[in-house]
Amino acid sequence: MTKRLNGLKTSINRRTFVKNGLTAAGAATVGAGLLAHGSSVLAQEGPEERSGRLTEGDAAILRFLAAAEILETDLWQQYNELGGIQDSEVPGGSGSAPYTAALAVLDADMAQYIHDNTEDELTHEVFINAFLASKGADTVNLDEFRTLPSSHATGAQQIGRLTNLMHLTVDTSWWTRYRSGTKNPDFGDTFDQAVPSLNVGRHPAIPRTDDDLTPSGHIQAIANTAGFHFGTIEQGGTSLYPSLAQRVTDRDVLRIVLSIGPTEAMHFQTWSDKAGNAPPLTDPKDPTLVFPDLNSPPLGGEEFQTNLIMPEPTIFLSRKLPTCSIVRPTATNGAAVGALKFLTAMGLFIGQSQAFFEIMRDLAEDADEAKIGLG
Ligand SMILES: [Fe+2]
Ligand SMILES: [Fe+2]
Repeated sequence: MTKRLNGLKTSINRRTFVKNGLTAAGAATVGAGLLAHGSSVLAQEGPEERSGRLTEGDAAILRFLAAAEILETDLWQQYNELGGIQDSEVPGGSGSAPYTAALAVLDADMAQYIHDNTEDELTHEVFINAFLASKGADTVNLDEFRTLPSSHATGAQQIGRLTNLMHLTVDTSWWTRYRSGTKNPDFGDTFDQAVPSLNVGRHPAIPRTDDDLTPSGHIQAIANTAGFHFGTIEQGGTSLYPSLAQRVTDRDVLRIVLSIGPTEAMHFQTWSDKAGNAPPLTDPKDPTLVFPDLNSPPLGGEEFQTNLIMPEPTIFLSRKLPTCSIVRPTATNGAAVGALKFLTAMGLFIGQSQAFFEIMRDLAEDADEAKIGLG
């Protein structure tokens, strides 16, 4: 107990200095507030949580992943209510026929895939928290942050949400990143956008009200946005798990991250294929939003052609080694904080409270402090 409290005090000072650069007195005040808040968010006592029979590092990595999965579940649930299949496995909502039909333009099975992706995320979240609890470690509960508004389109439940799908800035650079045979983000390389106008401004990925259901080009633009956002989210998970797995110590924890991570890749691969079916168009209600023809000049070729959905072999670890077909990025340093920045930058948390960002930042920083052998 004494040891834990000592660790807690050190941790508060470190966090506040790192994050806010405050004086010692200020740090103590902010730290106390954070702790008081954290105690209601985490099942036990705040930012420096119990790790039970796990190392601190393993528990912190799993807690960050649990939080990420809770957020994923929340956003997928919103997609499923309007554009998926509402049933006993994924209850809630009653569907929006025009949105579901627009998604079906990308693939006739889109509703089923949305449903199954949603169910998968829910099981990830529940399993990781249950595993943490089984080891006597603190779990993650973000319920108090379910405060963001639902879509008002017919078919959505009217409940508080953790995430916001109505003002997204969607980074579509994964499209060319996985098609490049010479570049890798872990070497500092950057990549062209498949849909540049999605990566600027704010775009709805679900209908906000029934006004968004017409004209047909507009709801199609929303469905196209969702189609690319699905890939953006799931490629993030595809990178996050192998990035964090490198710092896991316990064999069961390693098995968990090595077994969940590839399911994110299965999701990503599916969405990567479907996004290529998004019809080229300009949103009639927002002419700045243009979905280009990815198969015709000036696009097309190795970087854009829609059927090139298998990862192109590229540089890995060292330029002296042969190219390799790999997930990218997978650098482990700062992976959790990087994932949080990525989710924040896409506008997923627009409207969330300062306390939400502080808790998420703590969870990410704790995960990134995990070191092999030092847990
Ligand atoms: Fe997941
Ligand atoms: Fe996922």
